[in-house]
Amino acid sequence: MQIAIDGPASAGKSTIAKLIAKKLDFVYCDTGAMYRTVTLLAKKNNVGYGETLDILKLMSEHKIYFSNKSDGQHVYLDDEDVSDAIRTEEITNNVSQVSAIKEVRAKLVKMQRDMAGDTDIVMDGRDIGTTVLPNADVKIFLIASVEVRAQRRFKENLERGIKTPLKELQDEIAARDYKDSHREISPLKKADDAIEVDSSNMTIEEVVKRVTELVNEHK
Ligand code: CDP
Ligand code: CDP
Repeated sequence: MQIAIDGPASAGKSTIAKLIAKKLDFVYCDTGAMYRTVTLLAKKNNVGYGETLDILKLMSEHKIYFSNKSDGQHVYLDDEDVSDAIRTEEITNNVSQVSAIKEVRAKLVKMQRDMAGDTDIVMDGRDIGTTVLPNADVKIFLIASVEVRAQRRFKENLERGIKTPLKELQDEIAARDYKDSHREISPLKKADDAIEVDSSNMTIEEVVKRVTELVNEHK
């Protein structure tokens, strides 16, 4: 069974996808982490975020993979655990430029389809239901208002000891949504057969319950 969860930045996709995967004992794949890792790879090598050929060369020379640990899924670049390094503001603010490169997407989409293979999987991202797994059994398009998403990020940052102005978070989220929705290749878009879940006024538990219902309806 394949479950695709797409939606804009900070809608709660990875939180929900992880919980559903755990509940159903499915593999979880965070495709955003893969685009973030390629962005980090460019940064580490002083390659510009728009330098297609240099980025592709780096991708062929380095390995990106996931590993499951007791505290959740970690992402690796070669032997280095980059799970935290891919979440910095620098990476967040530039990932949309890297993810708009057609050739980068082609390579990552292939890796994502290989990961899905014939295992039960929950995959979250922007183009899972439309491009990566167009035949997914259940497709969720998870949304929430920009204000709510910025509030959630604010709280999340505060828990890590970082106080980011709310307006800055709102602007960053809105700018990334715009870029992700307007790029030429596989833009963020609800698949025709996806079910929209607006989590603006829902707790995490309520969203998990709703998605579980949708999965059960399919079985
Ligand atoms: O968690 P957050 O919503 O901040 O973003 P993410 O899921 O980690 O994705 C980071 C970025 O990767 C997005 O803003 C997109 O530019 C890109 N991405 C994509 O293009 N396609 C995907 N399937 C997943 C992410
Ligand atoms: O993966 P994506 O960027 O879509 O979002 P996330 O990183 O899973 O979630 C962003 C924040 O919203 C996290 O701190 C969640 O705990 C919180 N949250 C949520 O995901 N869903 C709710 N219904 C309420 C809060």
